[in-house]
Amino acid sequence: MSKSIKSKQNVKLAQLPELERSARRLEPGKEQRDRWNAAVQGYADRFIDDIYALNAYDPIQKTATPALPIPEEGRSMEGLLQRLEEDVDRQGLNPASGGHLGYVPGGGLFPTALGDYLAAITNRYAGLFFANPGAVRMENELLRWMCRMVGYPEGSLGNLASGGSIANLIAITTARDAKGIKAQEVPRAVIYLTQQVHHCVQKALRIAGLGEAVIRYIPMDEGFRMRADALREQLAADQAEGFRPFLLVASAGTTDTGAIDPLSKLADLAEAYQMWYHVDAAYGGFFMLVEEMRHKFAGIERSDSIAIDPHKGLFLSYGLGAVLMKDVKAQYESHFYKANYMQDAQKDWEEWSAADLSPELTKHFRGLRMWLPLQLFGLSPFRDALREKALLCRYFYQKVQELGFETGPEPELSILTFRYPEARGGSDQLNAALVDAIRQDGRVFLSSTQIGGQFWIRLAVLSFRTHRQEIDRCLSILGEQLGRLK
Ligand SMILES: Cc1ncc(COP(=O)(O)O)c(C=O)c1O
Repeated sequence: MSKSIKSKQNVKLAQLPELERSARRLEPGKEQRDRWNAAVQGYADRFIDDIYALNAYDPIQKTATPALPIPEEGRSMEGLLQRLEEDVDRQGLNPASGGHLGYVPGGGLFPTALGDYLAAITNRYAGLFFANPGAVRMENELLRWMCRMVGYPEGSLGNLASGGSIANLIAITTARDAKGIKAQEVPRAVIYLTQQVHHCVQKALRIAGLGEAVIRYIPMDEGFRMRADALREQLAADQAEGFRPFLLVASAGTTDTGAIDPLSKLADLAEAYQMWYHVDAAYGGFFMLVEEMRHKFAGIERSDSIAIDPHKGLFLSYGLGAVLMKDVKAQYESHFYKANYMQDAQKDWEEWSAADLSPELTKHFRGLRMWLPLQLFGLSPFRDALREKALLCRYFYQKVQELGFETGPEPELSILTFRYPEARGGSDQLNAALVDAIRQDGRVFLSSTQIGGQFWIRLAVLSFRTHRQEIDRCLSILGEQLGRLK
């Protein structure tokens, strides 16, 4: 090596102590950690202590303060928490509130945060059995627990995904490959669903390269459930014309009305036509924990795959959906890939690894955020909370009619639609104005939808913090605002 190259290297190496001193600022000492922990914990405690008094919706400030630039030198935790409170936590929808009765709430159980905290601190890698058998076993055990709950046989598995959309995508991708749908088959491959299927299914179909497949929207009955007789007719017609029925997507709890398709009858047809049978139970699935509601899901165990979301029906903070898969090998065939730099990971294989069963490689150890609440609370309060939500929805269903509203179908689970009827002077405009007025009031939050070309207000009871008091508050605000607008 020439003298000049050597001396240049020495100069660079001489910088190491200074670089190390600076880099070590990324490892705060105990005192610093204690101060940050105390500040964050204080913030979190105040948030939770006040949660029943906080609004479900705060008006958006149109003249938002400009975003903080990323600084060269760090700022104080206290100042940052203040910005978090002002810019984020006091504006718009508050999904942690029990007054959140729109979309699909959940709440965000406290131990979810503790699980996330521990997962982030220890940064365990739950993607490959080789890297952390314990973490992979824990996540797989959670999946097996859900598989048992829905009645899937031993050997079924799936994946813990970030949410219901990705769970549905994994199922649809697996269905495509398991049924051998290659590009040239797509234009004759037929997918059956209803107009009430969650839009993430249509997104998933497009992402999975099935956007040009034939999509049949099967007519529904008065309860927005797929009509099995109509599906049977469509299947026969499609087969006669040389199309290839390959995928049936049913819903067990639709987003608009909470409807459950006739899962058993659909299973018969899926079997008869050898279709992949997928059930989107992202919202409704955990109601299976309630003994007296289980019968509503009869037939779900005959499906090939199910999407079910712990960040909905188990009330976890956002960030955890699941896909359950009867044939894990099919899921593996669609998602695994071997790379040279991963060769060590192929050793010591006792469990399926999430990295081989989903699009993700490096992933958050998200099992911990589900395992911790389930282990700490046990199942009993979850069953009772779900039972309570279904009952609260029925209670609202009766009371809102007493206020003069017309309602959609009787609630199957914990979602219902209602509107102030034309017969009493209602209109789409009045109902929309009502939703706006309730949002401006902010104590509760309701969302709306279009059904049959009409504007309907939706109530979805699924936050673990929603109790009788929140429903009574919602009814009294509805009455007040209606009186004002009529
Ligand atoms: C029935 C249903 N499926 C799928 C989804 C999508 O789930 P996520 O928002 O977790 O991606 C939702 C969301 O509300 C849903 O209600």
